[in-house]
Amino acid sequence: MFSKWYIHHFRETCLLAEENGEMIGFIMGFLSQSNPDESYIRIVMVDPASRGKGVGRALYEEFSKSVGMLGRSLIRCVTAPRKKESIAFHTRMGFIIEPQEQEFEGLPVCLDYDGRDGIRVVFKKEL
Ligand SMILES: CC(C)(COP(=O)(O)OP(=O)(O)OC[C@H]1O[C@@H](n2cnc3c(N)ncnc32)[C@H](O)[C@@H]1OP(=O)(O)O)[C@@H](O)C(=O)NCCC(=O)NCCS
Repeated sequence: MFSKWYIHHFRETCLLAEENGEMIGFIMGFLSQSNPDESYIRIVMVDPASRGKGVGRALYEEFSKSVGMLGRSLIRCVTAPRKKESIAFHTRMGFIIEPQEQEFEGLPVCLDYDGRDGIRVVFKKEL
């Protein structure tokens, strides 16, 4: 899903989780150029066999530490409203859902966040 330029140019905020030399998860994010207090998580993914063991939490905590040291005080990310597991995970990670004018299945959503089929729940977390 990702071209090499992403990893080359956002190295400090792209992290791997490994077990016995094998990748079991990763997080990819970046520091906002436009909003100097902010960072953004593009995606987090944990191998299905390693879920529920704290890997996602560890990746988020390490990412928070990195961006905090780089002077950021806010993390933003989005997810699709149908991804209930992602919403539960982000809520456990201390993210709050940003209020929006529209709702979808009872959740505040931004309807045109991401182009076609781009309806998104928008999260933020203050560090
Ligand atoms: C979401 C995802 C990254 C979670 O990773 P994980 O390693 O299983 O998560 P952890 O074990 O670290 O769990 C962290 C917390 O979130 C909660 N949580 C994780 N998955 C959950 C789920 N499916 N339902 C409810 N709570 C969940 C855990 O209970 C835990 O809470 P606690 O630490 O307070 O006890 C993983 O399920 C995944 O890769 N999903 C597919 C990709 C995805 O949806 N990514 C997010 C959108 S980009």
